[in-house]
Amino acid sequence: MTPQTWTAVDGYLASKLIGPDAALDAALADSAAAGLPPIAVSTLQGRLLHMLAGMISSRRILELGTLGGYSTIWLARALPPGGQLVTVEIDPKHAAIARRNLDRAGVLDKIDLRVGPAATVLAELDAEGAQPFDFVFIDADKQSTPEYFQRAMKLTRKGGVIIVDNVIRGGKVADAASPDAGVQGIRRFNDLVAADSTVTATTIQTVGSKGYDGFAMVRLTPQPAG
Ligand code: SAH
Ligand code: DHB
Ligand code: MG
Repeated sequence: MTPQTWTAVDGYLASKLIGPDAALDAALADSAAAGLPPIAVSTLQGRLLHMLAGMISSRRILELGTLGGYSTIWLARALPPGGQLVTVEIDPKHAAIARRNLDRAGVLDKIDLRVGPAATVLAELDAEGAQPFDFVFIDADKQSTPEYFQRAMKLTRKGGVIIVDNVIRGGKVADAASPDAGVQGIRRFNDLVAADSTVTATTIQTVGSKGYDGFAMVRLTPQPAG
């Protein structure tokens, strides 16, 4: 099995299970034309995010790292009427492309797109007394993942879910001595999760068109019934 095989299988499954989608395809094409890096979640991963958010009937979603809004569109489509998605992007150029993509996808009315550093916006949301989120997708700068996770935990309801992207990095995550700041950030995030008795967590390694990487899933353990 080679990375070429992974990409071929991703292509086969994406065309079989998902197929063309005008708004999503245009979002990727315009992002590429504008020179944005080709690092959006894959089509199948986008569908996974959509399904996970829907499975817990998410009404409020928080995303860190908008890029061109590709994952944002998938997540926004999981929201019921009246639902809201706050997405945070530090780069005004990325945010401008994303706004256009979200508008064309017909979801812009559900989106609160905030341009600025994720840490600042997380502090803002806290200060505003934002209603708790059901679902959080952390996909910004990897070295700050532990800080984002801690802040996001405070903004998420019990039973809510936090997904973190890019937690395997081609396997580098298992190397304690890695000089990669992103890898060290993911390792500190794992330390936080391991020490937190209020959450249930797992990480799934993935291969596909984005190479060898993975998702972490953390659930704020719901109160037992009764
Ligand atoms: N979620 C997107 C991909 C995000 S790529 C998708 O799957 O479609 C990561 C994004 O995080 C980039 O657009 C980058 O500009 C943004 N980013 C990097 N550092 C950030 C920070 N400190 N705060 C907010 N966004 C940041
Ligand atoms: C990178 C960032 C991502 O969010 C991703 O999914 C893949 C790669 C990167 O910065 O290289
Ligand atoms: Mg990512």
